[in-house]
Amino acid sequence: MAKIYSASTTAPVNIATLKYWGKRDTKLNLPTNSSISVTLSQDDLRTFTTAAASEAFTKDTLWLNGTEESVTGARTSACLAELRALRKSLEDADPSLPPLSTYKLHIVSENNFPTAAGLASSAAGFAALVRAIADLYELPQSAEELSRIARQGSGSACRSLFGGYVAWEMGEKEDGSDSRAVQIATETDWPDMRAAILVVSAKKKETSSTTGMQTTAKTSPLFKHRVEVVVPERFKVMSKSILDKDFETFGQLTMADSNQFHAVCLDSSPPVFYMNDVSRNVISLIEKVNNLAGRVVAAYTFDAGPNAVLYYLEKDEPIVLGLLKAALPDLDGWQNKATVSAAVPDGVSEDM
Ligand code: ADP
Ligand code: DP6
Ligand code: CO
Repeated sequence: MAKIYSASTTAPVNIATLKYWGKRDTKLNLPTNSSISVTLSQDDLRTFTTAAASEAFTKDTLWLNGTEESVTGARTSACLAELRALRKSLEDADPSLPPLSTYKLHIVSENNFPTAAGLASSAAGFAALVRAIADLYELPQSAEELSRIARQGSGSACRSLFGGYVAWEMGEKEDGSDSRAVQIATETDWPDMRAAILVVSAKKKETSSTTGMQTTAKTSPLFKHRVEVVVPERFKVMSKSILDKDFETFGQLTMADSNQFHAVCLDSSPPVFYMNDVSRNVISLIEKVNNLAGRVVAAYTFDAGPNAVLYYLEKDEPIVLGLLKAALPDLDGWQNKATVSAAVPDGVSEDM
């Protein structure tokens, strides 16, 4: 029987505090603005992916949560092609290596949280896919270099190759070679940051992030102002707030940016809705508490879906979790708690 080579990895989700929304190049997946995110602990939400290669396999196959998915889509194909090319150059330099670049791949992936529901499954999913294959191929490339490949699978995935506080710098070059993720700070630089994830709905969203952002970029008159004027300034101030551990500024900008992102969605034609009444109740509740306290106790943010993520500091955990239990007892959550972590994908490689 032909030998099967395999490698497994887990990857974390990241939830943007300065949102990526809009592509300037859909083929290379280049964004219209830089973005910032926090990588969450893999104790709670994570993707687990195994990649296997064998001479005996007859086609590339991807099973996602037990169902076969297409690998012929441009995004997945781009990732596979880049990874194979890097493996090929290793094999050219060392002919004793097994020719894995010529073998078909079987990829099996599972998310332990809702897929396509605005909890960054495409981010953890493509980060895990790229990392698992890079490990299988024993590629020497750095996380930053792999982030350029993961970006082509799903933009937000480039940020899940790093833990802590991460920026995706949009870059300027047409070939996308400078559009990649960089770490702003590690999780230990600001260790008392906490995140709570509130699952408002685990249903698959009606409009994928890819489709939603295309509609916005094409039709929203507010969008140009956001990407040209608002985000560049916010990027600087938010990066500094992370380095300064200034939660007040970080939290205010996080909430403002979530709200502006959903505003440009509403400003699209046809309008794109991701939040629902429960999401809006969460916003009102947090706004009230912050207002009563006279400071930012917790900051809410919503990706392209109705589910809420709250960022807060450890000292406020009793207030935040107590409040959520009292006001929203029916909401499902990861005990309504997840810690920010170093969360670089964990690799385990083995030959079978
Ligand atoms: P989300 O808000 O969950 O990121 P998106 O609309 O951005 O939703 O992307 C969802 C899509 O990402 C899925 O339909 C699937 O194609 C892809 N995806 C999700 N998880 C994985 C995974 N583990 N491996 C590969 N692709 C994945
Ligand atoms: C609202 O990275 O999922 O979560 O690149 O088309 O796969 P594609 O989109 P995706 O978009 C994420 C949008 C967001 C904001 C963010 O994560 O920055
Ligand atoms: Co996504």
